[in-house]
Amino acid sequence: MRESVPACENLRKDHRAIEERLDVLLAALQRLTPELIPEIRATVRELQDLAAIHFEKEEAIFYPKLRPLVSDLLDRMGLQHADVRELERDLAELLAEPPQTPDSRWLNELRSIGIEFHDRIQHHIVDEEDQLFRLAEDRLTAEEQESLASAMNAARGSHPA
Ligand SMILES: [Fe+2]
Ligand SMILES: [Fe+2]
Repeated sequence: MRESVPACENLRKDHRAIEERLDVLLAALQRLTPELIPEIRATVRELQDLAAIHFEKEEAIFYPKLRPLVSDLLDRMGLQHADVRELERDLAELLAEPPQTPDSRWLNELRSIGIEFHDRIQHHIVDEEDQLFRLAEDRLTAEEQESLASAMNAARGSHPA
């Protein structure tokens, strides 16, 4: 196995935290009833917070460092972020004003957008770890990795948890 490096390790930890929430979201969507809507809304809010901090670390710190090496791959990662953000917005909008007695049509829409949101993030995490992190671990020097990791830790500290 490849030795993992601080910058990628930092981002992988975020991925595991995001996946933990994604599992909770998917489980709720799979047994969706109106009573579960508050729980789903809370989970989506947690995911929004986690993703906002994580995407910012990647887009402001990690991706720019790698752009000279792999601009095509980073364009694709950027598009995946945009897709996730769009679905996140749709989901938040839907959950902002649930009907008093949600009918099956509304619940089906929530389930379908929610599952799509889950799948897109999960797919992006896998692509990132399989392709981008692998490349970063090959190509960045130990010093570069350390300095990226400390920039990321500083960025995280600037956000209230
Ligand atoms: Fe990402
Ligand atoms: Fe990521």
